[in-house]
Amino acid sequence: MFQIVEQPDPARMFHDQYAFYSSTSRNMQAHFEQFAGSVMNDVLAGLLNPFVVELGSNDGTMLRHFHKRGIRHLGVEPSQNVADVARGNGINTISKFFNESLAQEIVADNGPADAIMAANVMCHIPDLPGVAAGVRRLLKPDGVFIFEDPYLGDMVAKTSYDQIYDEHVFIFSVNSVTRAFAMHGLELVDAIQQVTHGGSMRYVLAPKGSRAVSSRVAEQLAKEREQGLDRAETYLRFKQNCETSRTLLVQTLDALSNKGKRVAGYGATSKSTTVINYCGITPADIAYISDTTPIKQHKLSPGAHIPVKPYSEFARDYPDYALLFAWNHANEIREKETGFIAAGGNWIVYVPEVKIVP
Ligand code: TMP
Repeated sequence: MFQIVEQPDPARMFHDQYAFYSSTSRNMQAHFEQFAGSVMNDVLAGLLNPFVVELGSNDGTMLRHFHKRGIRHLGVEPSQNVADVARGNGINTISKFFNESLAQEIVADNGPADAIMAANVMCHIPDLPGVAAGVRRLLKPDGVFIFEDPYLGDMVAKTSYDQIYDEHVFIFSVNSVTRAFAMHGLELVDAIQQVTHGGSMRYVLAPKGSRAVSSRVAEQLAKEREQGLDRAETYLRFKQNCETSRTLLVQTLDALSNKGKRVAGYGATSKSTTVINYCGITPADIAYISDTTPIKQHKLSPGAHIPVKPYSEFARDYPDYALLFAWNHANEIREKETGFIAAGGNWIVYVPEVKIVP
């Protein structure tokens, strides 16, 4: 298990001013529509009046597909502001932290769940045993728990150290998920790689013995052994790769600054906070960071105090270079930003390696 040792209080991170809205990326919206579709087809098909629960349902981007089809659903979302958006769209949502006692309440009110889902949520919850016990309590004996999160194998392979930040308590591997949930009677029955968020894994868990285990689980476990995810030296090499990445990014920014080039950040991501502070990037290197999320705009990046500006600022007067902090949305962004490139702009990327690309 790869995890941060200093864990901030969840109530200080997930509250009424949570700054991330799932609906901000078009590609992620399409991804969640597919996720919902696969649950409907593979899990719910043929069931009478099924019930689904999503942990960390944010603004309802995934649950709206169940709502639209009249499927009984419930979102659990402790961050009030994003939950309010979901409720405004008619999606049943409670704003509480999920644990075993809340699971019991949900069962008392709605009965047990056929499917429990979580996307980019499980890795945010320090009390993993509490959530696992809650899932076990809430799930029907033949139900499934499906969650996905950034994958350790990708982080190590791509030196994407910016996956490590306050909210990402865990960077899961297939091995660690298998072990953590086995303690709660849940068996990993499938593990499916995803391209989202720079490389993620979707884990499918079910009460032990209730479902056939896909051959993908053993395949992924073998791949992890091959990659050395169970060996300390892999992480020492990862550390060296992070240091090299930092040196190269700092050199690149220094060279551009010496040439008088204007550089802006693209996407005030949580990940950027790690990069900015680890590399010692300052407002002298990056004039501002562009972000489309209103709640982030006109604020300062944590630590380095780089101003976050609305996207209109970027589009109004393109910088010479844009440091792509939202690199996990690169396809979507590069499709959108042909004007920036046509105006002579270039991207600075740092995952999997530092380079300048048109
Ligand atoms: P994420 O990497 O955690 O999904 O955060 C992406 C951030 O980047 C979020 O604050 C929204 C922002 N963003 C833009 O500013 N423009 C875009 O085109 C996209 C896709 C995201």
